[in-house]
Amino acid sequence: MCLGYCWLTVCLCLLLQQDLHQELAQAANILGIFPYRHISPFFVMQPLARTLAKRGHNVTLITPYGMPNDIDGVRHIRVAQLNERIKEMLESDQVLDFMINKWTESTLTAKALFNASYDILSDPGVQRMLHDRNESFDLIIMEPANLDALYGLVEYYNATLIGLSSIRINWHTDELAGNPAPSIYEPISPVGYSLETSLLSRIYNWIHIMEEKLVDYLILRPAQLHLFQKFFGYSSQKMNELRSRFSLMLINSHYSMGKVRANVPNIIEVGGIHLSEPTEPCDEELQKFLDEAEHGVIYFSLGNDILIKFLPVNIQEFLLQTFAKLKQSVIWKSELLYMPNKSDNVYVIEQAPQRQILYHPNVRLFITNGGLLSVMEAVDSGVPMLGLPMFFDQFGNMRWAQLSGMAEVIDINTLNEDILTDTIKHMLGNPSYSVKAKEMSQFFKDRPMSPLDTAVWWTEYALRNRNITRMRLNLEEIPLFEYYKIESLLAFSVRFGLVAVSLIFLVYTLLLKTRVRPRRLHP
Ligand SMILES: *[C@@H]1O[C@H](CO)[C@@H](O)[C@H](O)[C@H]1NC(C)=O
Ligand SMILES: *[C@@H]1O[C@H](CO)[C@@H](O)[C@H](O)[C@H]1NC(C)=O
Ligand SMILES: *[C@@H]1O[C@H](CO)[C@@H](O)[C@H](O)[C@H]1NC(C)=O
Ligand SMILES: *[C@@H]1O[C@H](CO)[C@@H](O)[C@H](O)[C@H]1NC(C)=O
Ligand SMILES: *[C@@H]1O[C@H](CO)[C@@H](O)[C@H](O)[C@H]1NC(C)=O
Ligand SMILES: *[C@@H]1O[C@H](CO)[C@@H](O)[C@H](O)[C@H]1NC(C)=O
Repeated sequence: MCLGYCWLTVCLCLLLQQDLHQELAQAANILGIFPYRHISPFFVMQPLARTLAKRGHNVTLITPYGMPNDIDGVRHIRVAQLNERIKEMLESDQVLDFMINKWTESTLTAKALFNASYDILSDPGVQRMLHDRNESFDLIIMEPANLDALYGLVEYYNATLIGLSSIRINWHTDELAGNPAPSIYEPISPVGYSLETSLLSRIYNWIHIMEEKLVDYLILRPAQLHLFQKFFGYSSQKMNELRSRFSLMLINSHYSMGKVRANVPNIIEVGGIHLSEPTEPCDEELQKFLDEAEHGVIYFSLGNDILIKFLPVNIQEFLLQTFAKLKQSVIWKSELLYMPNKSDNVYVIEQAPQRQILYHPNVRLFITNGGLLSVMEAVDSGVPMLGLPMFFDQFGNMRWAQLSGMAEVIDINTLNEDILTDTIKHMLGNPSYSVKAKEMSQFFKDRPMSPLDTAVWWTEYALRNRNITRMRLNLEEIPLFEYYKIESLLAFSVRFGLVAVSLIFLVYTLLLKTRVRPRRLHP
């Protein structure tokens, strides 16, 4: 008996040791750079960083202070200057300037990106890291934003580069991943976004993409090149070359949430990765409010980034009036807790445990600004949405949800009490929204591996397989001529042209004859 136990222990120890050994053999030094200005995208990178650290990798993260909170086993390099920029942005209401026009938006973006790259590279902590000869990194993970100066780190450490995109895929991500898909549907800015395939909307999107490419090429990149050369001293060709060093692109989207598209194998869809984080529980009062709502609950939240102060004046008043007329209970996430005129069916909360609320069976409708993470959470829990998109990708996220039949969208500029009340009543009275939402939920979740496991597996795959020519499509091998099947088009045009020319000739000669004939009869 004892012998048996002893053997078991020995075997277990051996097994454990082997396990550990395997992990150590693969352990790598990983550097993540995430200078986001708001909190949501951190929810996307956090689970990946935490899991990589748990698996024995040495993870170093360059981020602002407090975003995200310290992660166990991860070394944090905090860039204080990034926090200063966030404060500046909020104090000067720069967010509103982004809505003025394309030009102000681009110049502001260029400045913000320049500042972010500069702040990171000149940070004392980062400088210490760069000057420490003992530092080495096997892998660098960063958002495929336009922080091109930071690609210098990839060359400096001779590291493998992978992207983790917190937003949906767009032409820029495609370009960096080496995906030649004609992504005519996906400009970055919301204005030209359209999932319709009419010729006009394609042309419209094409114009937007061209504008964005010009902005990238003429405004964003020269500024970044300046920093790239100042801090690393590499050539401008080097920066261009480094742009195609992404071995993988992990993207926070999934084909179940939009148009199915052609992706190269190094684009990995990890949409919903943030759902692997544990949910926050509801407190007792909120739980009671949810449980006791006999006519169901409407959950209203405009996300973490939009404060009520950015909304049109009086909106609070008419929202309260609208909610007062409903028999449903309403949970309103708002930073303004003092609402003297609110009716009894409204529950105001500053920090809402959103996922837990959405999972509650009494919740019938989610009124949202359409932030990507919120949309995913609604899809995950199968709750219909009423969208009030305002910024960036929110229009595209909501447009997709509307096309799938689980959402309606109201233009914030035409929003009034009647429209809001009618839409809410229409959606609550029509079960099709809920049915579609449940359907989408199942489809979204039906995958071979969780998004987090997928992200971790592919990250380690990139570490094991450092020769990126085996993963990236070599664009030179498929010249434009072949990709767009121009030879068959040419053959087609020649045939069509010949037929057309003969037809025109025939008609012309016929016309000529009929015109000529009467003349002969008359004189
Ligand atoms: C990770 O960090 C520990 C402690 O600093 C160090 O002993 C170990 O060698 C590092 N691992 C790698 C792969 O460099
Ligand atoms: C960029 O930095 C400059 C100088 O520090 C500052 O004046 C400017 O407001 C910053 N711009 C943005 C968009 O952060
Ligand atoms: C680098 O590592 C060596 C040997 O491991 C050590 O003696 C030295 O102090 C380290 N240098 C720094 C700057 O940490
Ligand atoms: C860079 O890394 C690759 C693959 O790990 C290696 O083959 C190459 O020798 C390294 N280059 C330098 C300059 O260290
Ligand atoms: C509350 O409602 C009254 C009457 O409709 C209105 O005069 C008052 O301004 C409202 N108070 C607030 C804080 O909105
Ligand atoms: C990388 O893979 C390609 C294609 O398999 C091969 O031709 C090339 O020699 C490899 N490069 C290295 C450094 O192993």
